Amino acid sequence: MQADITLPANAGIAPPRPTWLVRDLRSDHAGETGAVWIYKAILAISRDAEVRAFATRHLETEQRHLAEMEVWVPAHQRSRLLPVWCVAGFMTGAIPALLGREWVFHTIEAVETFVDRHYAEQVERLAGMPAFADLRDLMETCRLDECEHRDEAAESVTSPGGPLLRAWAAIVGTGSAMAVEIVRRV
Ligand SMILES: [Fe+2]
Ligand SMILES: [Fe+2]
Repeated sequence: MQADITLPANAGIAPPRPTWLVRDLRSDHAGETGAVWIYKAILAISRDAEVRAFATRHLETEQRHLAEMEVWVPAHQRSRLLPVWCVAGFMTGAIPALLGREWVFHTIEAVETFVDRHYAEQVERLAGMPAFADLRDLMETCRLDECEHRDEAAESVTSPGGPLLRAWAAIVGTGSAMAVEIVRRV
């Protein structure tokens, strides 16, 4: 006679991930890598105490996000272009850090506005998939942190910025979207 036991869907084994989820996670791992380098660059360049305190706090959060992603995304599923994302992240932090605090805060607001949407779409895709509830929780936790980063940056700006700064923020937003499209494939 067979015992009537109901096990949770993912008891003891990790369920195989659909390709779209592997791609989503690759983009998250690469994104968190880039985020770490954005703040490293800001700290390497800026001498502004307020900017440094902001970047120090955010770097700590991004390092935690990256460590979590490293647990969940096995090495063979990570982007083969990671060095590129490190350089891209570094440039995204270094250029505004050279130009002053308004540039830094506008840049972070643009990046995190994109990242919020990026995570929100993934959380949405995982709705109703209990086998991946832990991944969904991780993405949602990261998303909420990124929203805090975005809001803190938005509260720190003191002007809407000139045309050059607004153009840069737009480039950062579209550049992030393009990077995700590439990283989903490589
Ligand atoms: Fe993050
Ligand atoms: Fe962030």
